[in-house]
Amino acid sequence: MKILAIETSCDDTAISIIEGDEQAPFSNKIRALSNIIHSQIEVHAPYGGVFPSLAKREHGKNLVPVLHKALKEASLLRETATKNKDAEFEIRIKNILEREPELSTAFMECIPSIEIPAIDAIAVTYGPGLPPALWTGVNFAKALASAWKKPIIPMNHLEGHIIAALMKKGSDSSYFVEKPHFPALALLISGGHTELILISDFLKYKIVGRTRDDAVGEAFDKVARMLGLPYPGGPPISHLAGIFRSKKNPAESSIAFTPPMLHSGDFDFSFSGIKTAVLSHIKKTGDLTDEKKEEIACAFENAVTEVLVKKTIDAASCYGVRAILVGGGVSANRNIKNALERKIESMPGIDLFFPSSHLSLDNALMIAAAALLRVSENPYILKRKMDYSGLEADGNAGIHDAGRFEISSIA
Ligand code: KG4
Ligand code: ZN
Repeated sequence: MKILAIETSCDDTAISIIEGDEQAPFSNKIRALSNIIHSQIEVHAPYGGVFPSLAKREHGKNLVPVLHKALKEASLLRETATKNKDAEFEIRIKNILEREPELSTAFMECIPSIEIPAIDAIAVTYGPGLPPALWTGVNFAKALASAWKKPIIPMNHLEGHIIAALMKKGSDSSYFVEKPHFPALALLISGGHTELILISDFLKYKIVGRTRDDAVGEAFDKVARMLGLPYPGGPPISHLAGIFRSKKNPAESSIAFTPPMLHSGDFDFSFSGIKTAVLSHIKKTGDLTDEKKEEIACAFENAVTEVLVKKTIDAASCYGVRAILVGGGVSANRNIKNALERKIESMPGIDLFFPSSHLSLDNALMIAAAALLRVSENPYILKRKMDYSGLEADGNAGIHDAGRFEISSIA
């Protein structure tokens, strides 16, 4: 089957189309027919973070061009000779896109002039994320579903990041999704989340640890800002820390930040205190030379890595897991990846899964692949008859909400 997935939970407008076998999603390859990501980083960078209303406006502007590109790349774009548009259609779409005026205009200009593409379903991220940004994607999916008469598969963003860790790229545009042994543990580290999730079985999740305040990606972004580095802060911090390590042994550094909650005896995290510790260190330091920035970046990254690795390994032992899956934007961090890999070497029986670099950040390919797995588990998802008025964006959705909008039989 072919699934078109839409992801607008934060500052990336992303659409991907995949073709896969819902009967055997693990043993057959998934073909990525297209995977388009329009990043808004340049728009948000001056603010040092993502501005929700601006993200919504940008998604409204980008969604139709990104869809056009995705269909074209997948060879699913055909212009129609006659416009499929009547008064009833226009009213219906305008109603659905009532709160998205710019998107509504672009939709009416594009969709009636193209043929209904040969896809089987539309997957869309309903949460978690920035509510205004999520709503634009959800409303767009509803409008497409109505125009093309296709079912919607509502998807959880966090589940997408978890599945991304299991996707291994083949030689062409294909991917294999590996099935881990269960129980497995997911370490989800992004700009909005820091969670340890126990996966007792396929698609069965339970949170066993989480941050009590800031997410780890947020801490990277805030520390970067203090050091005068650009947004998003993860990559530049990691880069400076690497420079420091290449010049000096970090053990000889005069700066060390205490890894937060290292010995708290549970699997929770906290990253707000370390941010304050970095700030007071900077204030004391005075002149922030390039060398000082490198040293601070390294000390910060080391402290964060230490606590993430320790709690993940402790939780893995506590629950006797056979696989660890790391997902979310911060999983792109080399230092964290190296440290976890080193630890796992001495723990036979535990497989470690990281997403490939192009799938660690937000993308729609992971949402499409996760949707295929959901259909494989519950084919009724596609049979649901409804007008989707019950489908709502939920900025605070958790991993336990994955599959929330599904039905398990036909009433
Ligand atoms: O998953 P993601 O793309 O968006 C959210 O769902 O939040 O994650 C974005 C976060 C940002 O905070 C960014 O600074 C962080 O991931 N990040 C990194 C790295 N690359 C991205 N953090 C540390 N090291 C990196 N290499
Ligand atoms: Zn994300």
